[in-house]
Amino acid sequence: MEYADVRSPHVRARTGATTPAVIAAALRLSAVRCRHGRLIAVDGVDLTLAPGEHLAITGTNGSGKSTLLRAVLGLHRETTGVIEVAGRQARGTADWRRRRAEVAWIPQRQGAGRFPLLVKELLDSGGHLDEAIAAAERLGVAGLLDRTLGTLSGGQLQRAYLARALGQVAAGAELVLADEPTAALDFAGQEQVAEVLAGLAAAVVVVTHDRVVAAACGRVAEMAAGRLREVR
Ligand SMILES: Nc1ncnc2c1ncn2[C@@H]1O[C@H](COP(=O)(O)OP(=O)(O)O)[C@@H](O)[C@H]1O
Ligand SMILES: [Mg+2]
Repeated sequence: MEYADVRSPHVRARTGATTPAVIAAALRLSAVRCRHGRLIAVDGVDLTLAPGEHLAITGTNGSGKSTLLRAVLGLHRETTGVIEVAGRQARGTADWRRRRAEVAWIPQRQGAGRFPLLVKELLDSGGHLDEAIAAAERLGVAGLLDRTLGTLSGGQLQRAYLARALGQVAAGAELVLADEPTAALDFAGQEQVAEVLAGLAAAVVVVTHDRVVAAACGRVAEMAAGRLREVR
């Protein structure tokens, strides 16, 4: 499926678009199935997300939401089906590396890592440090750049990951995958993050149990036993 390219010329140039008239879907999934050994965690998911469209995915624990997002990034090996980002399927290692660079990801388990990582190193890992620091300033975590992740509160850590993602979007990433990005935040924090996500021109898939976040998305789908059903 193709869409009229309504992006500004400088964004098109930055993303290397050569045909200004039409662009591919931000994300296209066809018959995606993921196993964890004998367990089928994602069971035949089809989805097309237009550029700039925002989709919330809700659903019970263990229904396959995180596995699905991880599959888009190539972090889940036991995956079959078609997963295209901006019209491209990843095949080899270099493609997957590119995929992880072009998609902004906020993981559910925001680990402090195996070795002590500084906040500024986390921000830098998105590839766009200056933009991420600017986002960290807006989110009130720019004062924590020299702290290790292990010393942050859950809410501060979540904001640091969000800042990394916002930095990637500011630098041209057109797809954001956010896995329960407000789970560790207080109500004011949830509202702030919902507003920040809603304001993004990029396409967004956000896994959330947060009504404010879901309400701000144009589309809502529910995941149950590995299947995705659109509800709004
Ligand atoms: N590393 C793993 N090894 C085995 N099973 C897993 C693993 N990760 C997740 N699962 C299982 O896959 C299913 C989907 O998990 P997940 O995608 O994390 O669900 P959700 O994000 O919707 O809570 C669950 O039954 C879960 O127990
Ligand atoms: Mg999950």
